[in-house]
Parts: sequence; C-alpha cells; structure tokens
Amino acid sequence: MITLRKVDGGNIDPLLALEVDAHQRAFVASNTRSILDAYVAITAGGVALPFGIYDGDTPVGFLMIGYGDADWPDAPAIAHDNYSLWRLMIDHRYQNCGYGKAAMREALRFIRTFPCGQAQYVWLSYEPENAVARKLYHSFGFEETGEMDGNEIIAVLKL
Ligand SMILES: CC(C)(COP(=O)(O)OP(=O)(O)OC[C@H]1O[C@@H](n2cnc3c(N)ncnc32)[C@H](O)[C@@H]1OP(=O)(O)O)[C@@H](O)C(=O)NCCC(=O)NCCS
Repeated sequence: MITLRKVDGGNIDPLLALEVDAHQRAFVASNTRSILDAYVAITAGGVALPFGIYDGDTPVGFLMIGYGDADWPDAPAIAHDNYSLWRLMIDHRYQNCGYGKAAMREALRFIRTFPCGQAQYVWLSYEPENAVARKLYHSFGFEETGEMDGNEIIAVLKL
C-alpha cells in the first residue's frame, strides 16, 4: 500500500538517498535541494509540505506540495492562493511500477482536504522533454495553460 509520510528526523536519511536516473537529473531537483527549498520557503513565511512516498515501510520516492506565493516575487499568477505539486520523484530502482501514479492519487486526495486553506486549482510544471511526466499529469486531468515557469510548462487541475 502506498502512503505519504511527512519528512522528519527519523526518515530524512533514507529519503535523501533516493535518486533519479542520471539522464533524468535535469527534470527534478535532488531531494536535498528540495528540503532546503522547503526550509527557505517556510522560514520566509511560505508553505512547503515535503513527504516520503512509501510502499509499506520501503521509501520509494519523494514529493512536495506548496501553497500560495508568499515571498516569491516572480511567481506565476496561478500560484496565488492555489496548491502546487512542487516536486515529484520516484527512485530509479522503483520507476515504472505504478508508484508515480499511486503517489499522485494520494497527493491529490490530500490536497482536496485543503490543509492550508481553500483553493480553486492545483498546478505543476515540467520540462518540455519530460514525456513520461507530461503523460502522467495529463492522465489525472492536468491541462496546459500556455504559461511557463522559467523553462517549464505549467499545467493546472481544477480542485
Ligand atoms: C515521472 C515519474 C515520477 C513517474 O513515476 P513512475 O513511478 O515511474 O510512473 P508509473 O509507474 O506510475 O507510470 C505512470 C505512467 O508512465 C509510464 N512510464 C513510466 N516510466 C516510463 C518510461 N521510462 N518510459 C515510458 N513510459 C513510462 C507508465 O507506463 C504509466 O503509463 P500508463 O498510465 O499508460 O500505464 C518518474 O519517472 C520519475 O521520478 N522521473 C524522474 C523525475 C521526474 O521527471 N519527475 C517529475 C518532474 S515534473
């Protein structure tokens, strides 16, 4: 069974050890970088909710949810008062086994409890070359808006 577990002092080491394939490194930040980004966002008054993705007690991936655009001067308009699926990765050893899809399902279920406040949308972004991620997100109903976040394509889902 796939669950999301909050990153804490007890599980941070195995989560930091999870990695994507070398050819995928341009698609997602390392988990170390993501947790540093969470620290920076939270200490600046923003929101970042980092989670390990678990199959039973085995850590297989990492994801991070954000909310709003506090302390983010060049945020895309969609970030304002909406949720984001800020990071998603499945360790290279566990990819193509259904974990990405299951983790998306759990993340959307959690976001729909509106843990940080009401919102109309959840949004995310991906590199144009990331065909696997694009297909995964489209299968959940995410639609591209034509906007970009830097080099990444933005897609949104109505909550
Ligand atoms: C994108 C990612 C999270 C998908 O997770 P995953 O566990 O491998 O995906 P799943 O096993 O749940 O498969 C989801 C779909 O993608 C397809 N897929 C997965 N890996 C694939 C691959 N290497 N090549 C082609 N299709 C692939 C599956 O067949 C499935 O398609 P289906 O719905 O038609 O059956 C994972 O590949 C990953 O971590 N990639 C590197 C980091 C990244 O790109 N993160 C997203 C940043 S925006």
